[in-house]
Amino acid sequence: MIHCQGCHVPDGRGFPGRVPDMRATLPLLLSVEGGRAFLVQVPGSAMSTLTNDRLAATLNWMVRNMADEATISTFTDYTETEVGQMRAVRLEDVFTTRDALIGHLENEHGGSTE
Ligand code: HEC
Repeated sequence: MIHCQGCHVPDGRGFPGRVPDMRATLPLLLSVEGGRAFLVQVPGSAMSTLTNDRLAATLNWMVRNMADEATISTFTDYTETEVGQMRAVRLEDVFTTRDALIGHLENEHGGSTE
């Protein structure tokens, strides 16, 4: 909550046009190859001051509280080691990568993120 809710708000809905609605995007991202790493590599995650084990715990909490049942049922928790490995890979361009993964994001609650 301290590190992330300023942009993502407590339930993950974000801000239409600026911060994606994670209730919609977590399931999409976790369903495509590379999406699992992307959740760790976005600036908000990777650049945070959270240690790898805290970031893993935060992402696990987010998925388990914000994603849909189907996504949660197939989700395996991030581990500290996994987060460390993914975090070491720096995204060249977050928008290009996200586009390649799931296309332009639609924000269910009011317009796209463009
Ligand atoms: C300054 C605002 C801001 C803060 C603070 C922030 N984020 Fe984000 N986050 C964004 C934006 C904007 C995106 C969309 C991708 C991008 O442009 O980086 C995003 C995307 C994400 C995504 C991928 C979901 C998607 O649809 O792209 C995850 C996961 C995420 N953030 C996790 C976190 C975590 C965990 C924290 C706290 C440690 C955090 N963010 C803090 C703004 C923020």
